[in-house]
This record gives sequence, C-alpha cells and structure tokens, in this order.
Amino acid sequence: MVSQSTKYDHLFQNVIPNSIGGIHIFGKNDTYVKPQDYDHILNLENRIWAELFQNLEFLLDQYASREYLLGLRTLPIPNNMFPEFEAISPLIENSTGWTLVPVAGFLDEELFFDLNQKRQFPVTDIIRQSPRFEEKYAGVNIQNDEGYTPEPDIFHDIQGHIPFLMNKKYADFMWEIGVLGDEILKNERGLSSKLVAHNLKRLQNYAWWTYEFGLVKNNKDSDSFRRVPNDIDYEIYGAGIISSFDEVTNVVHCAKGLTQRSKFLSYDIEEMALTCFDYSNIQDRYYVIESMESMYESFRTNQELFWFEG
Ligand SMILES: [Fe+2]
Repeated sequence: MVSQSTKYDHLFQNVIPNSIGGIHIFGKNDTYVKPQDYDHILNLENRIWAELFQNLEFLLDQYASREYLLGLRTLPIPNNMFPEFEAISPLIENSTGWTLVPVAGFLDEELFFDLNQKRQFPVTDIIRQSPRFEEKYAGVNIQNDEGYTPEPDIFHDIQGHIPFLMNKKYADFMWEIGVLGDEILKNERGLSSKLVAHNLKRLQNYAWWTYEFGLVKNNKDSDSFRRVPNDIDYEIYGAGIISSFDEVTNVVHCAKGLTQRSKFLSYDIEEMALTCFDYSNIQDRYYVIESMESMYESFRTNQELFWFEG
C-alpha cells in the first residue's frame, strides 16, 4: 500500500502529514459499485449543487482551460441540479471511450488505477454539506466546507473532472497514467514491495500536481471562448482547483499579487514526482505547464522516473 513508509522516503520533499484520518477506503474486494439513485435525490442536495456550481460558473468561464470549457458545453451537467450519470456516460464513451462507474466512496490506489486503465472513471453520488454526507462521515474529522472538501464528492468528480474526458488527448493522458499505475502495481519488473510503494507514490504525486492541481500558461488563445478575457498568466486545468471556490480564488489572487500564499513553479516532472502534497488544505504551490501537448509528451518520454530501482 502507498501509505507504507519506505527507506526511499527521504527522496521526497514537502512531506506534510495530512490532517484527516478515519475515512473508509474501498478496495477491489469490497462492494464498491453503488448505482446512482437519481429519483431519490433531495431538493436540498440539488440546491447545494446549484449554489456550488453558480458560485464558480463565471470565475471558471474566465479562468478554466479551453479543454474544460469545451467539454462542459457539450455535456448535460446542469447548473441547478444533480447531473445524472447515465445521461453523461454514453456521451463521454462516444467521444473518448471513457465511462462513469458510480462508486460508494474513496477508492484505494490499486482499484483506482485498475478502473482508469480500463477507461472507467469512478464517481460518487453524495455532495458536501448534505445530510447523506454528514451521515457517512459521522465521527470522522473531515473538513466539510462549502469551498472545498478533501473527500471526493459528486461536485468534484463531475463538475471538476468529467468535462476533460471529452477531450481525446487529455483522456488518453489520464488513461496512460492509469496504465502505468496498474503496471507498477502488477510489478512486472519484480521490484521489492517498498520500491513498488515508492514508485506508486511518485505517480500519485505527479497526478496530483497535473490533473488535480495543475495550471497551464495563458497564451490568450482561449479568450474567444470566454465572456470576460482571462487577465492572469495562467489557465486552470486541475480538477481539484476547478471544483473549489477557495482554491480558484486563491490562484487568481496569488496570480494578481494580492497574496503570496502559494507559489507558481515551472513544470519539472522529476521534482513533481518527488513532491508530496497535503489534500486537507489550499495548496502551497502550483506547477505550470507550457502547454497541454508538452505535458503529454513529457509524461510519455519520462516513464523511467516511475520505475526507480533504488
Ligand atoms: Fe480528483
């Protein structure tokens, strides 16, 4: 398991202990598939979705990446009620071969990568601040703010990630990360379990700093898609930023020099793989890629970084 500490941990930097524990993590031997019960969604839950979505709608129109904006346009992701998984899944399947798998909660890395290498994306049906969420995490010290929740919820999964899966190259990139994760876990090179855990952690760090919290240089090409031109140096493509009002605001404020809370660093695949993260707070850094193409290319040509042999 990735949580295992190994003698290679000194290679990692930015090791901050995450402040949240006690979340149930589902593995492949658990009953992890949980179909969406769309007819029983409460008005209150639709209301929470609407508030989260509408709070972010104009900000994202100005600052989210082109891939995101184009994907969002073409999918039935309403701004005022829960999206229906069965309405979305066939559309992404048609475009890029990915499908949605409704799941009961947080999945371990083995199951997550196994689904991803089959082009399946796990999505949860509960939303932060709702009675179902409170009930599920009763007794767990989990932050459950409007602006951000460390537990993936329907808002993060669908509003944050799914629009990107309409883009062929992005969808392939996510699939390639899943394939590599699956290969590391299957340990085809016969490495020690500590090295497997270490390499997997490298890949998780990389995924975190790219498709969860990444930024791409704003080259002004996307302004024709926006109501208001993007007035900062970056576009947001990380789903963890996109689904969090606090994080989007932080990126914009830091980029405008209104606060120095987080820094912007140039893309460096080795540094990113070796940099740990804290999912319980606003990120202290964001890695900026030159272009989506340069990231895809870099990942393809640096796979040995994730086969560290000690
Ligand atoms: Fe995510």
